Amino acid sequence: MGCSVSETQKLIMLPGPTNVPPRVMRAMIKPLMGHRGPDFKEILSQVINKTKKVFQTKEDLFVLTTSGTGATECALQNIIEDGDKIIVNVNGFFSERLAEAIKAYGGQPLVVSSEWGKAPRTEDFRKIIKANPDAKALSVVYNETSTGVTVRSLQEIGKLCEEEDILLIVDAISILGGDKLPVDEWNVDMCVTASQKCMMCPPGLSFVSVSPKAWEKISVKKQHRSFYLDLPMYKKYMGDGFTPFTPAVSLFYALNEACDMILEEGLPARFARHQICADAVYGAMEALGLGLMAEPESRSHTVAAVACPSGIEDGKLRELIRTKYGIDLGGSLEKWKGKMFRIGIMGNIGSPEIMSTVSAVASATADLGFKGRISEALEAARKALARLPARMN
Ligand SMILES: Cc1ncc(COP(=O)(O)O)c(C=O)c1O
Repeated sequence: MGCSVSETQKLIMLPGPTNVPPRVMRAMIKPLMGHRGPDFKEILSQVINKTKKVFQTKEDLFVLTTSGTGATECALQNIIEDGDKIIVNVNGFFSERLAEAIKAYGGQPLVVSSEWGKAPRTEDFRKIIKANPDAKALSVVYNETSTGVTVRSLQEIGKLCEEEDILLIVDAISILGGDKLPVDEWNVDMCVTASQKCMMCPPGLSFVSVSPKAWEKISVKKQHRSFYLDLPMYKKYMGDGFTPFTPAVSLFYALNEACDMILEEGLPARFARHQICADAVYGAMEALGLGLMAEPESRSHTVAAVACPSGIEDGKLRELIRTKYGIDLGGSLEKWKGKMFRIGIMGNIGSPEIMSTVSAVASATADLGFKGRISEALEAARKALARLPARMN
């Protein structure tokens, strides 16, 4: 039996995984090497130094061979002891999961809820910290991928955590490398991300940064629930230049190359490019006649959440876009099931990807009977993208 999966490359406009640049793909076909030898030691050292620049941290950073959730679990398991109070914002599917993960490690989540489509307010965090001075950490999903909401007050939250002497743990899985997050400057004690989003790599690697303040808590912790994710063990092995367990060597080649591309572009230019592409998507969707799900001041630059035209369910729309127009878009989750779709704006994107996506959404909604303003949508995208410098196109 032949394989039914098409060999034709789709344009991946998902909120992860994302399009991996050919340069990064090519890096992976280098011969494998032993992960206890000098060659891998050199690669690991390069990868860590470059990734630290992307995180804008001078503190410890570890690359794990897991998906993003592995790094989240790593952060939580190394901090939480039974009954520890951990403040967490819940405003979508992934922040709900974060609260669940806190419980799974024996913590007591103190939930700051906000409506889907909205960001938590710093004042709500301040109140809950005042009412619970014994809380050990505040954890926040910087970019809620299910709703396309970014917590724009993260820097303020970082200041608050410093004043109140509480750890700040940030899930930046769907944003780091695509929008501003200077980890040290914003007082983020543990920052978590994954390879398959704005870092432009295939899935399989995750990252966790660890501040000295976080190490203080880790070093006095008595309960250990995970062997694979034990940070003191990672630190001990890193001292010799290695990882404690077998790393996904080929993905480290990919990451090394992807970091070069990120640093060659430069972080400010990269963030500006994501913002311009996001403006193009939002402007085009509104011009077409579709609603946006996130409140204006919190709209993400890395994932756009768009309302489906009434009477058209997102599964049907995305299937048409995938099969007829060759583009993969993200679906709706939980309480927004069927009502919206998501456009990933991550990593290797510019005018070709955004114009193709806008045109595909405009065409497919028309195919399904929606009377959208197609030419206005294309013009809105074109105009916004004109702000991209030529080399970013
Ligand atoms: C904000 C956020 N947190 C956590 C995850 C889970 O990451 P992974 O599927 O890589 O484990 C995702 C995945 O999309 C995410 O967007």
